[in-house]
Parts: sequence; C-alpha cells; structure tokens
Amino acid sequence: MRDAQPRATLLQDYSPPAYLIDRTELHFLIEPGATTVRSRLHMRRNPAATGDGTSLVLDGCNLRTLALAIDERPLTTDDYLIDGEQMTIASVPERFALEVVTEIEPEKNRSLEGLYRSRTMYCTQCEAEGFRHITWFLDRPDVMSVYTVTIEADRAQCPVLLSNGNLVAQGEAGGGRHWARWEDPFPKPSYLFALVAGDLDRFDDRFTTCSGREVSLHIYVEPQDLDKCQHAMDSLKRAMRWDEKVYGREYDLDIFNIVAVDDFNMGAMENKSLNIFNTSCVLAKPETTTDAGFQRVEAVVAHEYFHNWSGNRVTCRDWFQLSLKEGFTVFRDAQFSADMGSATVKRIEDATLLRTVQFAEDAGPLAHPVRPESYIEISNFYTVTIYEKGAEVVRMLHTLLGAEDFRRGSDLYFARHDGQAVTCDDFVRAMEDASGRDLGQFRRWYSQAGTPQVTAIGNYDADTRRYSLTLRQHCPPTPGQPHKEPLLIPIRLALIGAAGALPLNVRGSVVDFTAPDRTEVVVALREAEQRLEFENVTEAPVPSLLRGFSAPVKLQHDYDRDQLQTLMRLDSDGFSRWDAGQQLAVQVLQALIADEAAAIDPRLIDAYRAIMADDSLDPALLALMLALPSEAYLSELATRIDPLAIHRAREQLSDHLAAVLSDAWWRLYRDHSHSEPYQPSATQIGGRALKNTALQYLMRLETPDILHCCEQQFQTADNMTDTLAAFSALVNSSAEEARAAALDSFYQRWQHEPLVVNLWLQVQAGCRRPGTLATVLELMQHPAFDRHNPNKLRALIGAFCSQNAINFHQPDGQGYRFLADQIIALDASNPQMASRFLTPLTRWRRYIPQAATLMREELGRIMAESGLSRDVYEVVSKSLAEDPDIERRKAE
Ligand code: TRP
Ligand code: ZN
Repeated sequence: MRDAQPRATLLQDYSPPAYLIDRTELHFLIEPGATTVRSRLHMRRNPAATGDGTSLVLDGCNLRTLALAIDERPLTTDDYLIDGEQMTIASVPERFALEVVTEIEPEKNRSLEGLYRSRTMYCTQCEAEGFRHITWFLDRPDVMSVYTVTIEADRAQCPVLLSNGNLVAQGEAGGGRHWARWEDPFPKPSYLFALVAGDLDRFDDRFTTCSGREVSLHIYVEPQDLDKCQHAMDSLKRAMRWDEKVYGREYDLDIFNIVAVDDFNMGAMENKSLNIFNTSCVLAKPETTTDAGFQRVEAVVAHEYFHNWSGNRVTCRDWFQLSLKEGFTVFRDAQFSADMGSATVKRIEDATLLRTVQFAEDAGPLAHPVRPESYIEISNFYTVTIYEKGAEVVRMLHTLLGAEDFRRGSDLYFARHDGQAVTCDDFVRAMEDASGRDLGQFRRWYSQAGTPQVTAIGNYDADTRRYSLTLRQHCPPTPGQPHKEPLLIPIRLALIGAAGALPLNVRGSVVDFTAPDRTEVVVALREAEQRLEFENVTEAPVPSLLRGFSAPVKLQHDYDRDQLQTLMRLDSDGFSRWDAGQQLAVQVLQALIADEAAAIDPRLIDAYRAIMADDSLDPALLALMLALPSEAYLSELATRIDPLAIHRAREQLSDHLAAVLSDAWWRLYRDHSHSEPYQPSATQIGGRALKNTALQYLMRLETPDILHCCEQQFQTADNMTDTLAAFSALVNSSAEEARAAALDSFYQRWQHEPLVVNLWLQVQAGCRRPGTLATVLELMQHPAFDRHNPNKLRALIGAFCSQNAINFHQPDGQGYRFLADQIIALDASNPQMASRFLTPLTRWRRYIPQAATLMREELGRIMAESGLSRDVYEVVSKSLAEDPDIERRKAE
C-alpha cells in the first residue's frame, strides 16, 4: 500500500548499481501457508559504480525477514535498517556472500506479482519489479546474475518442480516431499527468474536447430487441457525456424518450457527457458477457440520466444528502456504473423489498434514518449505506446534502411551487446553503424510524445504535366512537452491514374523506390514543410499516401468522395485501399453524427456493392473493407466525443447497409458457408470472417429466414468462430426466445471450459441492447464469475467499460459509478489490474461536458480513497492534473 506521497523515478537519475551479484543461489521450501526462501548472493562492489560508500541498499516488498548474514556472520538489527521497500546495510566488504531468509505466503497473494498460487499450482511473475516480493535483492535489470534454484515441495501436491535453465539434480526429501535443482548458465536480471510447482501434464515435442542441436520442447498444462496444446507447439516450432531464417537467431539451451496459468495479469512472460502464459494465450482447439484466438496464440508464443534474443540475451539497462525489448519484439512478431498469414490483414489490424487505442493514449493525460523520462509505478508503462508505437518506430527504421541494412544492424546489435543490459540509443547506434546513415533526427521518435499530424496538399498542372505535393508536419503538445521538433517521417506513396499506379519521376527527398516499376517511393519528410515535384505525369492523379501505414501519424488530405472511390477500386496497396473505404465511411458517418436526418451518400452504397461483386478481392480484406469504422475510431476523430450520437449514427448506417444490400449479403453468406474440416489457415479464416460479417448485417433485419440460418449455424457449427458469431448475433437481437435459448444452451454446453465461459461473459457484457449494466451486475454474482481472476474481470468489466460505449456512457452516469466501485474494490488486492481498468475514465476531457463532468467526479471519488496503490494513484492524479502548457497552447 501507498506510503505518504509516492515519488517519481527519473531517467536522468540513472546511475550504475553500486554492487553486482555474480551468483544467486535460491532455496524454496514450499509448504501450505508459508514458503521459506533462503538466498545466498555472491556480491562484489561494481568497478563502474560512481559513489564510493560501503553501504548496500536492497529492494524488498511485503517480506517477513527471518535472518540475514554476511560471510556466515549473522546481522543484528543494528547492522541494517528497513524503510518501506528498501533495506540499507550500513557497511559491507568489497566482496562477500549475503545470506537472507524470508517467509512469504503465496496462497494469499492476489496481486499476481512475485510468487503466487493459481488454482492448484505455484508460479511466479517477476517483471517488472516482482522479484522483490520474493526476497531482498538488487531488483533492477542491469544487475545480471547466474541462478541456481532448489525447490522443495510435497510430491503429491507438486509432482512438477520447474525453474530456469537445466535440471541438474533431484531427490527425495522425506515425509512425502521431494526436491529439484535447476541451473541457468546465462546471467540474467531478476525479472526473468521463474519458478513453477504443481500437478501438471506435459505435451512434448523436439526441435533441431540450424546448427543441429536437439531441443526438448514442453508445454505444461492442467490435465484437462492436454488436448489444447498442439497449436501452440506448432507455432513455437514455426517461430524458432523463422527466427533462424529471418534474423539468424538460434535457440541457446537444450530445453524450452511453456507453462499455462489461469490467473495472470498480462498475456505471457518470457522468463529464460520457462515462459509462463496466460491460458488464453496458449490453449487452443477448434471447438473452443475462435480464429482470433488461434492467431493470438501463434503471435504470443512467437513474441515470447523472440524475447530470448531481443530481451533476454540483450536486455534493458533500466525500465525507461522497456521499448528496447518490447517495441523490437512486437515488430518481430508482427513480421512473423505477416509471413504466416495475410500480411495486408495483419497490417490493417495493427494500424487500427494504433489509430484507436494508441492515438487516444497519445492525446490524453498519460501520453508519454516511447522512452519515458519519469514514472511513479513502472507497471503503468506497459502501454500501447511502449509496445505498438515502439514497434512502429522499429518498422520505420526497417523502411528507411531497407531489409538488408536493417538485418546488418540487428546482427551488429546482437553481436555487440550479447550478455549486456543496454539502451534504446545503443539499438539506434547499431543501426547507424551498420548502415552508415545518420539517425540523429530519427532519435526524436524516442523522446517526443504525441501523434504527428501530416497534411498533404496536391496540385496538378496539365500544361506542364507536373504534379506537386506539399507535405507539412505538426505535433500537438503533450503533458510536459509544450513544443515539438520536426520528426523524420517515412511516407510511402504512389500516384494513381485511371488505370492504376503511374511510374514516378520525382525530385525531392526520396529515400527509395520500393517497386521495381518505379510506381512507389518512400519519401523522407524531415522539415516542418517540404515540397515534392513529380514530372511527366500524364493525367491528374489521385495520391495514395502513407501506404502500408508507413508511419504512426495522422495523414490529412482533402479527398473528395469520387477520389476515395477511385482508390477503393484501383489502389494496389491493400492497406490504402482499405483506408480509402474507411475514409469514405467516416465522411458519411460524421455527417450522420452531426445530423441524424442527413442523407446517406449513395456513393458509399455503390462502392460497397462494387467490392462485394469483385471476386478478385481476398475475402479477408473484403471482410475488413465491409466493416464500418469502429465507435472507438470515430471517437478518436471527434473533437468532442458524444458517444450516444456516434453509436446512433453507426447503427443507422449499418441498418441501412443491411437493408439496401441484403441480396448481396445473402450471396456472400451462402458462398462462404462451406463445410471443410476446420483449419486455422489464412484462407479459411478469411472465408469465415466474410461469412460472419454478412451474418451480422443480415441479423439486423431479423427476418425469419436469417434468424433460422443463425440458429442453425449456432447449433451445428464445428468451430468456435462460427458458434460465437451466431451466438453474439442472437444475444444482440430482439428475438427474445431465440436469445434466451442461446444464452442458456451456450452455458450448459461450455460451463466446464473456463476460456469459453469467458466468451459467454464477454458477449453479454458487450451487448448493445439497453439494460446491459444490470446484466453485468447479475453476472458478477454468477458462479462462473471470480473477482480475483483477471481473465474473468476483463471478460465482464473490461468488455462492458471499453467495448460497450452505448451502455457504459448512459447519461445517468451509472456506468462510470460502477467502474469506479470496481476499481476501488480491486485496488486492495490487484493494483496492476485496477490501474488498467482506469483507462476509459482517463479520457474524460475529450467528452461532451455532461459526460466529462460525471467521469471526472468518479475519478475524484477514487482519489479520495485512503491507501490507494501507487499504480492507481499515478493514473488518477495524472488524469486530474491541469497541464498549464497544454491549456495555454489550446487558448493560443
Ligand atoms: N514482458 C511481457 C511481455 O511483453 C509482459 C508482462 C507479462 C508483464 N506479465 C507482466 C508486464 C506483468 C508487467 C507485469 O511479453
Ligand atoms: Zn514482450
């Protein structure tokens, strides 16, 4: 709990650790109600330390300290002082062994940090600062140590005992107990330590690395889940092979373990050779898992595996460098997913996430650079900015340098820094040194927060056959950063004529031609304003800008609706083609938001009809093109968010599209309802996405025909994608009987599969019908709910507050009050989760006044609670703070 005034940690205060820990020996005695941890740390003074004192400061949190000794000499209470989360030992030698005995109680640990119990197993989560919940330590990533870990527990309760590295010894301990000893030869920071003890089944496979070494692969799960491991295992092997081929990275130990845990704050954790996964990110089988679920498992398994090099072998110097490992690893997993499935679809999904969630973060009170300069609680900085914008920054380096130089740069980075704890700047320097390019201006992407706005103005002169394009950039102020410098922004572009992309003769800051026929260029925008001249342009072109979403910026160009239709038909870049459709729909929706009687532009209907009839379009891309921009995206674009008007407009347009295009929807629905055995392949996934998009539109009509088809699909589907699509459509319909029957039968059928029950909760929490808050409150009393399980909390409370604007934002403010109540209750046991749930309230300033006032009141009510965690305190106080710089700039 919070000590009086939580203090911020600053990047500028970084100094190297005063001591190093060469070896760490840990001994865990696991007993019901109390686990004893004995540690022996082989320490020495750091030659690189800046100070010259002889005192030692250790981190620890909620520990019962039973004994301390230096070189076998017990310490008395005169020798050390414990103050909050720090222990200072007044004087220590140059080199010594520190012994510590602590007692902890994993059974009572609901924060899911440190050592805790999930159902029947013990497990750990140490990133970022969880290790200090286990024992006193230098709990910072630049202290790297070689670990030997001995675990002793009851054999019947915990037949499986795991830690990092290799199993080196095991034996009986008497009284039905046994022990195992693990040794990890690679020095690592404490955040990568892991331990698991429990009664688990094992799914096995092997992998032969590129140099011919054999690696044993194991996935540990609760016995009932052994039938859901194949997909994760296949994904792991694909990721291992891909990292060898694309990055030249080989796995470095003889064993790689994954453990599935049901209570987990995040997706998964890359602990050295012992990855721990949220069950939702590892278990999959067709009957219980949707296509999105299969893809998520593949992506997360790959992400955690890729961390072995980008994160573990080369780690972070301090937590301000978090994006060094996360941004790079997200970029790597995105490249992998693109190679495994549809690259265009993956790019559209990632750009959508960035434009909705990340742009909103960057425009709010918690905006921070990819490399932040200050934090109160580091857990609050596992954000879309660090992860997704950080990945975009790496992607821009890839775009600017080209694949070959980028690979040279990453090879140099891994070779130069193997075994080290380094900074984002070290990464950029490796890219610079390998490519010979100056990335000075580019570095601003790491230090400057906010989403740049790029405006493009085109002008065609038919007489001279010249097309000029003026590009301007501007970045709005963010907290603590009133003024911004111009960034280096790679803009991929083409000019589209009546028959497609035109060959380009261009003068200006062109980085590269990216298509062999010279129809596409990457332009480096460096100045606040820059002009490009294209020559020999034979017709008035439509510019295709920011192709492939080449930079995380908002690009503004005044397209008219005919030009957008042209791009929808002819653009050879899948992302831009999709984006043109989105822009057209946004224009129509914005008119409806402003005035519900506005006429719906028939050009949108024509465009939809045209793409629905275009059999050359990839079904997966078509499904995305037929989905209207989300309420979240429309909110992001609004100057003042009126959630009810946005919802009403989007419903109105959806209903209209459903009705006027019903024949075309029926055709798509029928054409893509085939019955091959389920495969999570890109082709099948695209077909199902398209069919279920058609189903959603048709169900708005609620005709007997479609209701019948939907019920039929719900009852007979052999896979969760089709089951869930039909279930969700029924739950959102007004066909009361069918609705009630579906809710009941779904639960009856799947009540013994926790991950499916979560889907059942989530669909109900996301239901757009009135009265959903009452349903959510009822479901919180249902036996299927568990207020300590993060997946259940996300399925019910998270889905209601972040994916159900119409109900969450009811004008009476009950939605906000509900969320604040949940956050206050949760903060006492799990601050990380409580803090994450605050996100929708932090955006209060962007809403219309009625909503904003009510949201701010709830933040104030949370702030008034005593004993808030650092996590919640930081987010609430920053959300309520007035930023004088921003207020002033807005007034100007
Ligand atoms: N490093 C993990 C990842 O990106 C993130 C993570 C897992 C995490 N569990 C956590 C971060 C708990 C903070 C707290 O894969
Ligand atoms: Zn990660």
